[in-house]
Amino acid sequence: MSFRIQPTPAARPNRCQLFGPGSNTKLFEKMAASAADVINLDLEDSVAPSDKDAARANVIEAINSVDWGKKTLSVRINGLDTPYWYRDVVDLMEQAGPRLDQIMIPKVGCAADVYAVDALVTAIETAKARARPVSFEVIIESAAGIAHVEEIAAASPRLEAMSLGAADFAASMGMQTTGIGGTQENYYMLQDGQHHWSDPWHWAQAAIVAACRTHGVLPVDGPFGDFSDDDGYRAQARRSAVLGMVGKWAIHPKQIALANEVFTPSEQQVTEAKEILAAMEEAKASGAGATVYKGRLVDIASIKQAEVIVNQAEMIANG
Ligand code: COA
Ligand code: MG
Repeated sequence: MSFRIQPTPAARPNRCQLFGPGSNTKLFEKMAASAADVINLDLEDSVAPSDKDAARANVIEAINSVDWGKKTLSVRINGLDTPYWYRDVVDLMEQAGPRLDQIMIPKVGCAADVYAVDALVTAIETAKARARPVSFEVIIESAAGIAHVEEIAAASPRLEAMSLGAADFAASMGMQTTGIGGTQENYYMLQDGQHHWSDPWHWAQAAIVAACRTHGVLPVDGPFGDFSDDDGYRAQARRSAVLGMVGKWAIHPKQIALANEVFTPSEQQVTEAKEILAAMEEAKASGAGATVYKGRLVDIASIKQAEVIVNQAEMIANG
């Protein structure tokens, strides 16, 4: 291992990020009352161009008036390729009160995109003597984003989380699909004439996890468009959890419980992890670096693996 210690990401639950359009004010109280850990009020692609100004004002009003409890409160601004984003940042930073936790920057393509928003946010934060810095999250959803994922993960000390945005990612990559996440009919191997479906999002997810873990950022899986398909959502979320992601978006309230279920380590997982830690304590006491747990090898690396699960469970319980 490199002598540099892997940085620890923000210690807060991020199992589910619930989105709602900034133009749909009826949803705000429902979002606040939901079981999602993170709320993303959207100014970007779920808001029509003619509604941009109204949505921005609605969102600022809601940040300042709704009781958001202990949730992480984030606003998705418009992309840097639009005429809207600077006004999003200026109005949010000047008019939203201390309850605003985070700004989500979509379609990030390089570290300089994050730097540009950071410069503007920092200037306004200083001018307004804001007590607590606003954090950032970014969406990797373009070919450039995934090509530059590592420099993006390192781009700002404000950066806390990074999501994969499957729909824009697929479009930018020229992928032949209109699905938002999940199994794709034509992405299969043939085995004895049988279709074996594979996961076209796997590579991008793993690249995001590696960049995030290198720089202490939370890796998050993005939207799953077919909100009638609970099993499909669960399967995608479980694969993401196994790869190291900490949560997933909900674009409909019925997806919140699914995300919370998958990204909260189960009682059985926690019990097993604690048993592994106990077995390794015993091994260490007798001077051994490895031992046998339920017929399989556990060693010093197993301590770190088990600690991931125990720490996650504790952080969620205390969150
Ligand atoms: N947050 C909180 N509550 C929501 C919600 C959300 N994102 N979406 C729907 N609801 C509520 C509805 O208001 C409704 O409440 P009610 O039972 O009190 O009437 C209930 O959940 C059931 O909603 P339903 O009728 O099934 O959905 P819909 O047709 O009203 O809305 C969508 C469907 C997809 C348009 C809507 O869920 C939505 O806008 N999702 C977010 C889209 C988004 O932000 N995209 C950007 C990120 S990809
Ligand atoms: Mg997008």
